[in-house]
Amino acid sequence: MKGFMTLVASAAGVHALVNRGDSCCFHLTASGGASGPVGQLSDGQNRIGDNSLSPADFCIDSNGAITDGNGRGCILTRATPTPGFSVGSNGQLEFAGSANFVACETGDNGGLNIYSTLSNALSQCKTINLMADSCSGSQSPPPTPQPNNGCGPILSSGNFEFPHLIIPIDSSSPDTAFGTSFNGTVTSTISSIFNFDIPQSDSGKTCSLVFLFPNKADLQTSSFSFSGDGKIDVAKLASVATSQTNFNNAPSVAEDLGYITISPGNSFVISTFSCPAGQAISFEMKNAGSTDLDFFQDFNPAPIGLFITVC
Ligand SMILES: *[C@@H]1O[C@H](CO)[C@@H](O)[C@H](O)[C@H]1NC(C)=O
Repeated sequence: MKGFMTLVASAAGVHALVNRGDSCCFHLTASGGASGPVGQLSDGQNRIGDNSLSPADFCIDSNGAITDGNGRGCILTRATPTPGFSVGSNGQLEFAGSANFVACETGDNGGLNIYSTLSNALSQCKTINLMADSCSGSQSPPPTPQPNNGCGPILSSGNFEFPHLIIPIDSSSPDTAFGTSFNGTVTSTISSIFNFDIPQSDSGKTCSLVFLFPNKADLQTSSFSFSGDGKIDVAKLASVATSQTNFNNAPSVAEDLGYITISPGNSFVISTFSCPAGQAISFEMKNAGSTDLDFFQDFNPAPIGLFITVC
């Protein structure tokens, strides 16, 4: 089938500047409901199945935003590039962690518009995949899956673990060990590491890492400051932090758990796993956008911060 497509990224509201200096460039081939290399007309429209067009250049930056060979974001729409794209280790283009895109008939010329699966589906749509010929593993953080709710985000007596150590690290002061903090802090340079001690009594149980972020009006003994887009990347670390931990000697990332986009009045189940009973584990919260967050970790009503619920 011959048809043009426009890549319309539909995630709303998140804007990032494109630094072409740290981007990686690739070509795309569609497969599935429509197939063939993705070419581009001079006005930026992307077309598949037209052999007269040379493959279009696309570049993905470290925020997972894609621009075309002319620096146009989101292709054709010339909107600000939307972050959240990645090229998986298998070469498949993904958006928000899904490799499925939807190609829908435009109706008037037999062309196909391509949407992320997050957009409202139009009629006569087919699922397609888009394979990149390079940049494999150029990952923006995977989005946090919304599985079942794990153990849930509600703290009740005896069913949760509180972090026993919170350590800020600062890339702008990489050799400084700031020591223990009562606050979790996430800025463009500061991340926070949270250590949890999982008691032996949690053996055989399920644990969920949750982030609770109530509205200020619901806080009695805590407070927070918050600005920016709220994107936070959460990672499980290979070992725990100590009071000597600084940016340079911080434990490495064992597993990137994905990112959450926080805003007050919401709670997030980040990851669910079988409780590592009798072990100490640690997690790092770091900026994945323009987040500026400082909160006093507190389990008094309304609880705020990073906790592990147990069920
Ligand atoms: C902890 O966070 C609260 C709320 O943002 C703030 O008022 C307080 O000054 C912070 N504490 C420290 C030691 O930074």
